[in-house]
Parts: sequence; structure tokens; C-alpha cells
Amino acid sequence: MKIVNVVGARPNFMKIAPLLEEMSRHSELRALLVHTGQHYDAAMSTLFFQELAIPAPDLNLEVGSASHAVQTALIMQRFEKVLLEEKPDLVLVVGDVNSTIACALTSVKLGIPVAHVEAGLRSFDRSMPEEINRLLTDAIAEYLFTTEKTANENLLREGIPAEKIHFVGNVMIDTLLKHRDKAARSQILTQLRVQEQTYGLVTLHRPSNVDCPPTLEAILSALSALAQRLPILFPCHPRTREKIGAFHLMHYFTQPTNGTLSRGMYLYEPLGYLDFLKLMAEAKLVLTDSGGIQEETTILGVPCLSLRENTERPVTVTGGTNTLVGVAREQIIAKALEILSQPRMPYPVPELWDGHAAKRIVQILLENFGHIPQRP
Ligand code: UD1
Repeated sequence: MKIVNVVGARPNFMKIAPLLEEMSRHSELRALLVHTGQHYDAAMSTLFFQELAIPAPDLNLEVGSASHAVQTALIMQRFEKVLLEEKPDLVLVVGDVNSTIACALTSVKLGIPVAHVEAGLRSFDRSMPEEINRLLTDAIAEYLFTTEKTANENLLREGIPAEKIHFVGNVMIDTLLKHRDKAARSQILTQLRVQEQTYGLVTLHRPSNVDCPPTLEAILSALSALAQRLPILFPCHPRTREKIGAFHLMHYFTQPTNGTLSRGMYLYEPLGYLDFLKLMAEAKLVLTDSGGIQEETTILGVPCLSLRENTERPVTVTGGTNTLVGVAREQIIAKALEILSQPRMPYPVPELWDGHAAKRIVQILLENFGHIPQRP
């Protein structure tokens, strides 16, 4: 059974790592890895391959950054050639980025079945590019692997046959649990001169938050007000850094001096997986618009304020540490201060977020392709 696995952007790398590792344990599987090149920087891509021991891609489509239509079209054109050459039995895509839908669509048009890992998540906000990518990928996938039960409900409501949907848990959490001890040894706190439990950690990259000057300014203004209470560390996505410069918002940031970081908001380059995991695990509070970080903080038991009006990952709110706070300045400050004043609570681990999701996925694929007897 030949599987072409696809990655494109940073959040895909931690999802594919455990799947490739599991596939390598089965001699009846031949797993190829295609990197579309949607993310291409050392900090956004190469570093993750090294840290997560992901094998070098068999092919890199090198599409780079472009408008959505150009990027999607380029991926499709180049991926089609790969499929015609390799003739795989299955294409596996993860997450919700442009590479996910581009490769899924290319595959089904050639009659090659698609497996979608992290299927069924819905924010119900069609202005998000990721929501469109999720809806379309799920509509054409043959195997839909879900991380939470609400995703199964969403897919059933959309008319996806139940036999295509498999609740398997969360591959990103497989990676987190595997690397947690190694991350604990990261020296990033010493390097940045902060101490455990004394700082807030921020990430921000959604177009709806960073591409619109008043919204980005309201968020930065709230964060810098909060930074009068505790240092705020902000490893910054390239998209966001560009906008901060373009909108003349650098004055919200503080220049680090020698010695322990004091109050203020500090801007950094994007961090690698292990350093970022360590920073998350030891933060007093995380503020983010990322989907994956909502899940990771839930497992780490760290309070997370989502700077969004909705989430496609409701289990992180109903059963985890996540609070949706929106992007209004006063609301962000009030909620953050409230959380900082509360003692931490123990949280249950969401169902099947146990480090074995990749194993379940590969088992199901092998069964369906007739390589091992069906389970009763
Ligand atoms: C993409 C995904 C988003 C995901 C995010 C994680 C889509 C529609 N969006 O958004 O779901 O959460 O990745 O980061 O697929 N850039 C670099 N170096 C890189 C890559 C990008 O500098 O290696 C810069 C470029 O200026 C580019 C911008 O970042 O124009 C945005 O990159 P892009 O891939 O278009 O989308 P993201 O905002 O990263």
C-alpha cells in the first residue's frame, strides 16, 4: 500500500510526525512525504523537521507564498504530476491549510482516495479561509479521522456517511506527549531571562486579527496594558511582524535590557517546537488566535485566552483550559486579569488524547486496504 502524505505549513508538521513514524513500523506500507513549500523559512519549516525527526520530504513542490488562488492552483498543478508519476493507493492530508484542500482535490480528480486527519472541526465562520478548506476537504475525503466527538456530529449533519468517520483522537497531542520531557530541558527561559509562571505568552496570525489595522491595534493595546502586570512574550509569525511594521505599531513593544525581563511586551522571531512547548508549559497565561495552541494548552493545563469570537475546537472550552474572549480591548484585559487572579484547576484530558491517535489511524487504513484481518 503506497501512501502519499502531504504537509505544507507549520501546523502540519507536528501532525504528520507521529503518522510517518507509525507507518514506518509496517513493512506493507510505503509512505512518501510531499512538502508543498507553503511555508519555507528555516524558522517556519526546516527547524520542525529536525526537532521532530521528520524524514526529509521525498518531494518539495516549492510553491511559496502567493494569493490563495495562485497558491492553491500552483500546488494542484505540481501535485498532479507527482500523483501521475507515483500512482499511490491513498493520499493523506492533515489540518485545514491551503495545501490540505489543494492536494485533496487533485487526488480525488484522479480517482485516488483521500484520508483527512483532523476532519469535522467547524468554527461555523465562513470568512475564515481554514473553514472553507475544512468543509471542502471533508466533502471529498474517503476516510475522515476526527479528534473530538463534536466533529463526528458536524460531519453526520453534513451528510457524510457514518462508515467514513473514525473518532481516533489527536495526532498533535501524540507529538506533544512524546516531546514533553525533551522540551522540559529547553534553555529558552534562561535565554529570554524569564522565570516559570511569571509571564504571559502570545501568538497571533489570523488574517482577521492582524490584517486590519484597528483590530491589530486594539489587541496590541490590550496586551501592552496587560504587560504592565507581567512580561508578555510574543514570538511573532512573519505575517504579523510585517503588519506590525506596516501599520506603525512597534511602539507597543519594549526593548529587552540586560537582566531578568521586567514588565513590558517583547517581540521575538518564531520559535522552534521544543522551545515553544517549554514556554507554553511554564506560562502563567497564553493568549492566542491559533487553533492548535488551544488544544496544547488544554493538555498542559495552562489557561488559554483565545482572541477569537469562535472556535472549531469546542472541547477545549467545555472540557479544557480555553476561554473565548474576542478582540475587544477592555474584554481582553478584564478576562486576563480575572484568570490571573484565580488558582489553577485540574482539567480532565479530552477523550482519546492519549498519545495513540496515529496508531489508530494506521490500523484503520491497513484494515480497509485488506492488509490485516478486520476487527470483530
Ligand atoms: C497558514 C494557514 C493557517 C495556519 C498558518 C500557520 C492557510 C490558508 N493558512 O497561514 O491556517 O494557521 O499557516 O502559520 O493555509 N511567510 C514567511 N515564511 C514562511 C511562510 C510564510 O515569511 O515560511 C510569510 C509570507 O510573507 C506570507 C505570510 O507569511 O505571505 C503568510 O503565509 P501563508 O502561508 O499565506 O499563510 P499563514 O498566514 O502562515
